[in-house]
Amino acid sequence: MKVQMHVLLAQLTTQIFFSIITIPLLIPQIARVSVTRLFISTCFGRLYGNRYQSVIDSFQGRYGLAMAAGLARVKEIAGKSVSLVADCGTGTGFVTKQAAAEFPQATFVALDILPGMLRQAANNCKDLVRKAFFVQADTFALPLADQSVDLLLVQNTIPYFAEFHRVCRPGGMIIYVDTSAGWIANLSKRLVEKHKLFAKVISERVDLGFYVLAQKAGEAK
Ligand SMILES: C[S@@+](CC[C@H](N)C(=O)[O-])C[C@H]1O[C@@H](n2cnc3c(N)ncnc32)[C@H](O)[C@@H]1O
Repeated sequence: MKVQMHVLLAQLTTQIFFSIITIPLLIPQIARVSVTRLFISTCFGRLYGNRYQSVIDSFQGRYGLAMAAGLARVKEIAGKSVSLVADCGTGTGFVTKQAAAEFPQATFVALDILPGMLRQAANNCKDLVRKAFFVQADTFALPLADQSVDLLLVQNTIPYFAEFHRVCRPGGMIIYVDTSAGWIANLSKRLVEKHKLFAKVISERVDLGFYVLAQKAGEAK
């Protein structure tokens, strides 16, 4: 019973925290200032880093539900044409593993600003992802060529859509997920639409969280 209370409290705290910080992070003028990036990488990397797996565990299997729904939608739209996937702010590699199960033929580039997180991700993915590269990078300046990526995955980290749009190929897609702020699914969609970068924006509330799926204009492969 004591353990149950502890888990519930951790889940509630995480939900409140993500709900508060998600909205401002969707506004480019706030997201791109270096103080915001320092704050996020300090919270999620240096402070939470070694404990992030316990945050995932506190969701008791519900952590990946919104991303799973987004990935299923991409599979419906793009089928097997997804060959290069970038997981931006990979953390423990949770999303890379999840997406590799859906797109086993794809090559993955898992990026994180903190080397310690990349080590965890590489270790967690080693037996489950066929082809993956783990790269230290700031998602505001991705070391990826223009229009090169089929699918970008961004979960519980800062979404900087202008940079994602740059590296996304025509017809390519982005899934942005927050695992615990479902109540702002529609607001998030409207904020993404406001950037006017994407031809099509879909959003859905899933369990505790939501996903926003944005597709770039142009011919799919
Ligand atoms: C809350 S964790 C989420 C990890 C993973 N996406 C998941 O859903 O499990 C956020 C991750 O984003 C990384 N991060 C924060 N700011 C970043 C930035 N500007 N560029 C790249 N990674 C960043 C942190 O180091 C951390 O590993």
